[in-house]
Amino acid sequence: MPNHAILIYENGGPEVMRLESVPVPELAPNEVLVHHQAIGLNFSDINVRRGGFYKMIRNGLEVSFPLGLGNEAAGIVEAVGDAVTDFKPGDPVAYGGMHGQFFEDTGAYCTRRAVPEDRLVSIPDGVSFEEAAAVLLKGSTASLIINKLHTPNAGDKILIHTAASGVGSLLCQWANHLGATVIGTVGSPAKAEIAKQNGCHHIISYRETDFVKEVASLAPEGLTAVYDGVGKDTFHASIPLLGQFGKAINYGNASGPVAPIDVQLLAVRSLSVARAGVTGHIGTKDALRKVAAELFELVHKRVLRPRIEKVYDLKDAADAHRDAEAARYSGSLILKP
Ligand SMILES: NC(=O)c1ccc[n+]([C@@H]2O[C@H](COP(=O)([O-])OP(=O)(O)OC[C@H]3O[C@@H](n4cnc5c(N)ncnc54)[C@H](OP(=O)(O)O)[C@@H]3O)[C@@H](O)[C@H]2O)c1
Repeated sequence: MPNHAILIYENGGPEVMRLESVPVPELAPNEVLVHHQAIGLNFSDINVRRGGFYKMIRNGLEVSFPLGLGNEAAGIVEAVGDAVTDFKPGDPVAYGGMHGQFFEDTGAYCTRRAVPEDRLVSIPDGVSFEEAAAVLLKGSTASLIINKLHTPNAGDKILIHTAASGVGSLLCQWANHLGATVIGTVGSPAKAEIAKQNGCHHIISYRETDFVKEVASLAPEGLTAVYDGVGKDTFHASIPLLGQFGKAINYGNASGPVAPIDVQLLAVRSLSVARAGVTGHIGTKDALRKVAAELFELVHKRVLRPRIEKVYDLKDAADAHRDAEAARYSGSLILKP
């Protein structure tokens, strides 16, 4: 049975990614062998490949090479371990992350993977493998923000950075559905069109114009919240745009990590700052399956509309990384083994 994986032997650029033949994994009693049909690319895969950011938060823990990349995939159950009760061969399933942090136990860029039963969810009828792999992890992040950190209400004004990105798109669609006025930033005219489809009421080209000035004129009374996955280039500048009791939520570092924040400055309007981390939101079997059920239901109702920009062969995963690093796509990229 031909079986392949993308492995890296050192941290670095996309050129360190190698496609290799690997043995089909043997199953532990609690594991399920998943034949991948669609692998979701996440920005964290790029951070794991590069190494730097995670060296900081891993607190000195060394990575052992060769290292597989990727956290998320959807596929068909091919075999199950002796103790598995929830799945059988032929079932369509998906997963996003293993038991630890998302930069640990990576290795979804492969043909087949042994996945612990409690990390798998069933894919319902009407949701494709590509949609499942595009929505599970990015949608879980949106679910964490919207269900746990700040739930948009009708009349709220929310600034959502990178309104055409993987997570940003889902946040815009969801916040619009809940009745908020959504102000989205984008990095290109093509992405402005996608942001409109995602339900943004106002769209700002934040690389060409001063987004702070534009948002201040759109929301002179101040924003209810800002959702930000860009980090270094946008987070600090967004905080003064918040109104009374406003919430600044950072969930990512696409431009680099956020510099430390002086909490005293938040006193001016009783502001809050939160940093989302999806691992804990879907850390148990029950939590993961509850979050996934809501996401798939929202996909079924077309409230969430995961956009698959491009499907790459697994062997071309380095090209997909190059496109992601150059911010050349909207929505999600999928790898196909
Ligand atoms: N906290 C969590 O648990 C969690 C979960 C999922 C994702 N994340 C993080 O959230 C961030 C966004 O994830 P995503 O899946 O939405 O990513 P994505 O689809 O790849 O989008 C990232 C976007 O960031 C913008 N960007 C700004 N500066 C950039 C730079 N220097 N390089 C590349 N892109 C840059 C680009 O949009 P424009 O062209 O519009 O500027 C790009 O399209 C990532 O940092 C990811 O690691 C965190």
